[in-house]
Amino acid sequence: MNFNFTPFPVLETERLTLRELNLTDAKAIFGLRTNKEVNEFIDRKRPNNLSEARAFIDRISTLTLNNEGIFWVIESKSNHQLMGSIGLRNFEDEDDYAEIGYELDPIYQQKGFMSEAFEEVLKFGFNQMELKTIEAFTHKNNMDSIMLLEKQKFVFHPEIKDEGFENNISYRLTK
Ligand SMILES: CC(C)(COP(=O)(O)OP(=O)(O)OC[C@H]1O[C@@H](n2cnc3c(N)ncnc32)[C@H](O)[C@@H]1OP(=O)(O)O)[C@@H](O)C(=O)NCCC(=O)NCCS
Repeated sequence: MNFNFTPFPVLETERLTLRELNLTDAKAIFGLRTNKEVNEFIDRKRPNNLSEARAFIDRISTLTLNNEGIFWVIESKSNHQLMGSIGLRNFEDEDDYAEIGYELDPIYQQKGFMSEAFEEVLKFGFNQMELKTIEAFTHKNNMDSIMLLEKQKFVFHPEIKDEGFENNISYRLTK
């Protein structure tokens, strides 16, 4: 497993730029992380105001600087809006393992954007970071997420539990 996120690895797809998060994204990140639809199946702390959104951005910057995680903003090439995010974290060096997380603003869902971002991030994880396993924990009723994972050839592992999140199930992709 090999990674150093400085300089930040910007990724490009046909319709998207995957770039670093920065403080000018605070308003968009606040909107995304407080969106009811986005949060329907995600159990996490939501920012109460812009200052908490900025604190979240600071935490992400530190994580990236320390090579403990990487979080890309998914930006539209056509209108330069922040559409969502995708990231890798919870690295386990001995096993060349990382966990993937992802979210899209509902107005950009069902258009294949997340599949496009996923393909690039999986390539980066397996080829540049030399990961062997990428795992996604997703709520058992999150059908859009499950369909995305199955399309990307992730395999359901009923024997794996997500500690503290009893409604989550595990999907893994191995190289
Ligand atoms: C999970 C999530 C990212 C999936 O997003 P999505 O937009 O459904 O995923 P995709 O990018 O793969 O889009 C797939 C759909 O776009 C359609 N589509 C339209 N144009 C397309 C194109 N050019 N290429 C590919 N698919 C296209 C596909 O047919 C597919 O629809 P279908 O499922 O009815 O067949 C999204 O539902 C989300 O952000 N949810 C809230 C956050 C969340 O739960 N995150 C997961 C936490 S574990």
